[in-house]
Amino acid sequence: MSTSPAAEAATSRLGIAAQAARRRTFAIISHPDAGKTTLTENLLLAGGAIRAAGQVRARGENRRTRSDWMKIERERGISVSASVMTFDHAGLMFNLLDTPGHEDFSEDTYRTLTAADAAIMVLDAAKGIEPQTLKLFEVCRLRDIPIITFINKMDREAQDPFALLDEIGSKLALDPAPLYWPAGSGGRFKGMLDLTRDKFIPFAKRGGGPAGQEDGHPPAIAFKGNAVVSYLDPDELEELGENAELVSGASKPFDPQAFLEGHMTPVFFGSALRHFGVDELLAGIGAYCPPPKAVAAVKGGEPAQVQPGASEVTGFVFKVQANMDPNHRDRIAFLKICSGQFTRGMKLKAPNTGKNPLKTISVNAPMMFFASDRELAEDAFAGDVIGIPNHGVLRVGDSLSESGSLRFAGLPNFAPEILQRVRVKDPLKAKHLKKALESLAEEGVTQLFRPTIGSDFIVGAVGQLQFEVMADRLANEYQLEVIFEPSPYGEARWLVGDKADLEDFQSKHRSAMGADIDEQPVYLAKSAWDIGYATERYPRVRFERAKERA
Ligand code: G4P
Repeated sequence: MSTSPAAEAATSRLGIAAQAARRRTFAIISHPDAGKTTLTENLLLAGGAIRAAGQVRARGENRRTRSDWMKIERERGISVSASVMTFDHAGLMFNLLDTPGHEDFSEDTYRTLTAADAAIMVLDAAKGIEPQTLKLFEVCRLRDIPIITFINKMDREAQDPFALLDEIGSKLALDPAPLYWPAGSGGRFKGMLDLTRDKFIPFAKRGGGPAGQEDGHPPAIAFKGNAVVSYLDPDELEELGENAELVSGASKPFDPQAFLEGHMTPVFFGSALRHFGVDELLAGIGAYCPPPKAVAAVKGGEPAQVQPGASEVTGFVFKVQANMDPNHRDRIAFLKICSGQFTRGMKLKAPNTGKNPLKTISVNAPMMFFASDRELAEDAFAGDVIGIPNHGVLRVGDSLSESGSLRFAGLPNFAPEILQRVRVKDPLKAKHLKKALESLAEEGVTQLFRPTIGSDFIVGAVGQLQFEVMADRLANEYQLEVIFEPSPYGEARWLVGDKADLEDFQSKHRSAMGADIDEQPVYLAKSAWDIGYATERYPRVRFERAKERA
């Protein structure tokens, strides 16, 4: 940690609202291979949370070798699980939420983004906007999350930066506002111009580490000064000057309000691998990304806005992860705090949600996750994420508060893209299978549907990889050998409408009806065509693609 005891004592005296205001909770979104892991690591390095690059990956490896189900993750070289990394730097508390890179886990990513107050979009400078970047960007837009762009890998041959900005403008309908401008790329990459301060930041051909360190890049110098010629030859100097003029004429100046509203993205350039541009990015996150804002909720049946500085402790569970520590069969619920000052040992309540009665949880061992370790959280404020170990009590989407009368909206389930029937090889274990499937569905790994007729279990997922992870976990954690088989269903939709209308529809479609784990009625259709047909014939019934937890 980079904070001195004196600074810590000063921050501990801050009030709830001031503590919330110094939180920056953000996620990194990117297409696989654009450099998310490398950037994560270098942000932690820049923030003083780790001392050397390689620790994040090492930690990951360590966890993976100890955990059986993550074998898949290792074999495929993808990151399946998401977690959070917290660090205190320059008077601010940064919470970096990790999102899985693989598209089959887009639902997991979506939920993680509900806990983020901002996102960093990493682009590979040679590739620009790739398919997965676009998908994740759309999720951010749905939630109005402000986005900072980091154009990575400038130490390799890159596309023309003007073309990259054009692409951001045209594909994302977002105004790019470059705060820096690169001098060359690849072997001719010389550094970048800080457009707001008119300073040149040289790129060291060798080395690369945080500013001020032995292998760090040279310090920034005045662009108009004499020293710049030791880094740029006359042609390069002229070109950079011209480009800087061109870009300030061609793009809108950075407007923090437009950024917060999701219309504009400040653009940074750099090389995560060589730790270039990363200190600037971290400073930009601190300066421009918003602290946690008020969150819409329902309190005692009335709509309410929960202010981060309010005294009642509130939060919502956006992720549940099993097996973080395989020695303990625990599950960890990740709670994003929305208001109040949480202290260890506090009792929090989840409201009654029909099927699930009011639950009270004594949070005696909350965890905060630092780069190389996890620690007991003595206190936490809006913007922070704490891990609550529990044995299956907490579910994704649960709202927790001191009063138990508050519920946050907005953690939907999406209609799955693949529906398969699951069967256990040993029929004597059918009862076990039910429990295991319910437990995985509660964790948000997959969705579970029970057709009204018959005894099948139908599992829904976004991608094939989720079934593989599931089979692996059922075998390792529950000793259940399962087989997934094609099901007659191609689509699932939640039914919403008046009781009489729903009953009418259900009675005529019994063979295509089912329920989810909350006992909500689901239409299990053969195809999208069937849904279109039903929508026309039953205009008073809504066939919903997404369901928000009640
Ligand atoms: P991801 O999490 O987005 O999937 O990407 P990751 O950070 O794993 O980076 C993907 C590859 O790109 C890695 O190389 C990494 O070293 C490289 N990389 C990341 N940032 C930069 C950069 O700024 N410049 C250059 N030149 N390369 C970068 P790899 O060979 O696949 O893995 P490794 O053997 O280096 O770990």
